[in-house]
Order: sequence, then C-alpha cells, then structure tokens
Amino acid sequence: MLILGIETSCDETAASLVQEKDGNLSVLSSIVSSQAKLHAKWGGVVPNLASREHLKNIIPVLQKTFQEAKKKPPEIDLIAVTNGPGLIPALLIGTSTAKTLAYVWKKPLLGIHHIEGHIYANFVNEISSISKSKFPMSKQISNPKSQISFPILCLIVSGGHTQLILMKKHLDYEIVGQTLDDAAGEAFDKVARILGLGYPGGPAIAAKAAMIATSDKRQVTSKNKSMSHVSCHMSQIKLPRPMINSNNFNFSFSGLKTAALYETKKHPEFLKDKEYISEMCHEFQQSVVDVLISKTLKAAKKYHPKTIMLAGGVSANEELREQFGKAVSSLPATSYQLPATSYSIDNAAMIAAAAYFRWKNMSNSQKKEASNNWKVLETDSNLKLK
Ligand code: KG4
Ligand code: ZN
Repeated sequence: MLILGIETSCDETAASLVQEKDGNLSVLSSIVSSQAKLHAKWGGVVPNLASREHLKNIIPVLQKTFQEAKKKPPEIDLIAVTNGPGLIPALLIGTSTAKTLAYVWKKPLLGIHHIEGHIYANFVNEISSISKSKFPMSKQISNPKSQISFPILCLIVSGGHTQLILMKKHLDYEIVGQTLDDAAGEAFDKVARILGLGYPGGPAIAAKAAMIATSDKRQVTSKNKSMSHVSCHMSQIKLPRPMINSNNFNFSFSGLKTAALYETKKHPEFLKDKEYISEMCHEFQQSVVDVLISKTLKAAKKYHPKTIMLAGGVSANEELREQFGKAVSSLPATSYQLPATSYSIDNAAMIAAAAYFRWKNMSNSQKKEASNNWKVLETDSNLKLK
C-alpha cells in the first residue's frame, strides 16, 4: 500500500510517500519546507504569513515528494492529511490541496490528528534508543510490530502540546496528564526570546546548553579566573522544577518561563555574556527534562507500560532523549522508543504512518466512505484526539 501524507498545521509545508509492505512502513520520501526563518523576524508563527507560504510551497513540495520516491500519482492508494489541531489558515492549505487531489485522482482520503501523527512517527523508524547518531535521517524501514508492545505510555512534547497518553492498543488514547498552561516547546520558544536567541527556541537553547554539557565543565568554568565575575553568578542560577512533586501527572511551564525572566532581570547586563546565556539555557533545559522524566516515571509506576515513547518536536532534544533513556532503563520490563529526530519535528511521514493504522482498522464500508471524503472532510483547529 502506498500512502501520500500532507502536513501544513503550523510553519512546515510537508509531504511524504510511505510504502507499507507486510505491515512494515518504509519512507520513500519525506520533504519538509520550513518557514522558520520567515517567522523568526516576528518571534513566532504568524498564521496568515504561514498560509501564504504553504500556498506557495505545497505544489513544489508535492512534486519533489513524488520525484524523490520515483512514484506517480496513479500508484498511490490513499491520501492522508492533517486536519487539526493547528492554525486554521495553515491547515486549510493542506486540507484543500488533499481534497482536490483526492477528487482529481479518485483516491480515498483520511484526515489525521496532528498528535496522532507524532505518536505514529515512532512506527516508521528503525527504532533504537538514546543517541541520535544511531538514527539514519530518512528512508528507514522497520517492522512496526517488532519492538513496541502495549500498553504504551507516550510523552508528547511539542510546541502546542505536552501530554502523557496511555495507549492500551492502537488508536486508543487516554490522556493521563497534560500541561495546565504552556507546552514544553512553547516554554523553550519563550525563554529563547527572553534570552534573545530567536525562533524556534528549542534548537537554539539546546545548542547553547550543550556548551555546558557536564558538571565537570561547569567546575572548570567557575575556576576560570578571567570569567570570575560571571561564573560567580552563573553557578547561582537555579530555576524551579514546577509541579515536580504534585500528586498528579500534569505539567506547568509558564512559571518556569517567568522565573527565567526574573532571573535575567536581576542582571540585565549578563544578557550580553555568552557563558551566562549558556548557563541559563542549561539550567532551563535541565528543569524541563527533570520535570518531564519525573512525571513520566510517576505515571509509569501507576500504569505499568511495556513501552515508554517520546513524540513531538521537543523529543528532538538530545539531552531529553539521552536522560530519558537512562531513566527508563531503571524500570524493569519497559522498553524505550523514540522517533528519529527528523520525524520528531513536524513532517508528513508521520501523517501517512498514522493513516496506515487508521486504514487497517476500518471496515470495508468505512473504506468506501473514505472515497467521499474529498467532499466532506472538515478542518478543525481544536480537533480532539479520539
Ligand atoms: O512538533 P513540532 O515540530 O511542532 C508542533 O506541533 O508544535 O514542535 C515544535 C517545537 C518548538 O517549540 C521547538 O522549539 C521545539 O519543538 N523543538 C525543540 C527542539 N527542536 C524543536 N525543543 C527542544 N530541543 C530541540 N532540539
Ligand atoms: Zn507537531
């Protein structure tokens, strides 16, 4: 089965062709055109600007997707498109394009929830644990059934969502915890803005934090006499771990962002200091990682998952991937799964992969109805995961 995936929910115009054979999903092509540079000027995504860019890019991205996969439209069996949640002006470009193609090419069409896509990014990869270097960036073939067993506890960490989801079987979602305010990615983006690091904030903060990767390095820094005025303050940066001890599996990141803001206001002159910025990034990132790991382990103690999974843009964070892996290895009989970093951030292979599992679960009459979806598929900025 050959599936065309389309994703335009935020600031990435993405299309992908995913081939299924005997239950194995192989990514033939995954093209992502990012608008990050364009939105950086505004410090975040501007919906109407995103829409205009999607409109400009969607056809070239589709052309490249078919070219790279060496496939022609008649060969596809199914079209899948993100129909929510997301920015309506952005989503509409993807859904209108998908509906038009489904009509013209006479193909069945499925609308996919963006977060369901992130979860199923874990099923297109040769899944391994911990280090990025172990993951090839694209064209991976794997047996989705090989390593992932239910129940799965999935931590979704993206720009718009932070949720702990329990899956007892495919396509079955119970949200056991979520953020009460900002999403983890949103916090990365806002703190990056405070520190003058631009948009998107996650990769920028991770890069600065990596300059102070170990406590050993920090000791070396504090002994550096030429930096003594700064290092004295650097070693004092201590941000809170919000809700780490709360008696539930919810999160809150807005207070952490405010704490980072107050910290910088104490010494605005330090914002010019590269080492101070690195130290702030390191402490902020570590706070997010500590909370995410602690809450997930707490939920694992209650739900006893066989697999703990990461998904969403923040799961591209190397420190999170690595420290999470170490933490999960302390749990008996629980495996750790995470997507390749190229499938952590928004892409369309994940949408096609989720569509495969949806399709497999549908009755013949439901599959027939999907041929009518070019007419009836709706776009919903607040689409619920069900
Ligand atoms: O899933 P995603 O690509 O889009 C949404 O669905 O929101 O996630 C985007 C978020 C942004 O907030 C971005 O700053 C964050 O993921 N992100 C990261 C990293 N790469 C992307 N956060 C931390 N570390 C990273 N390496
Ligand atoms: Zn996303």
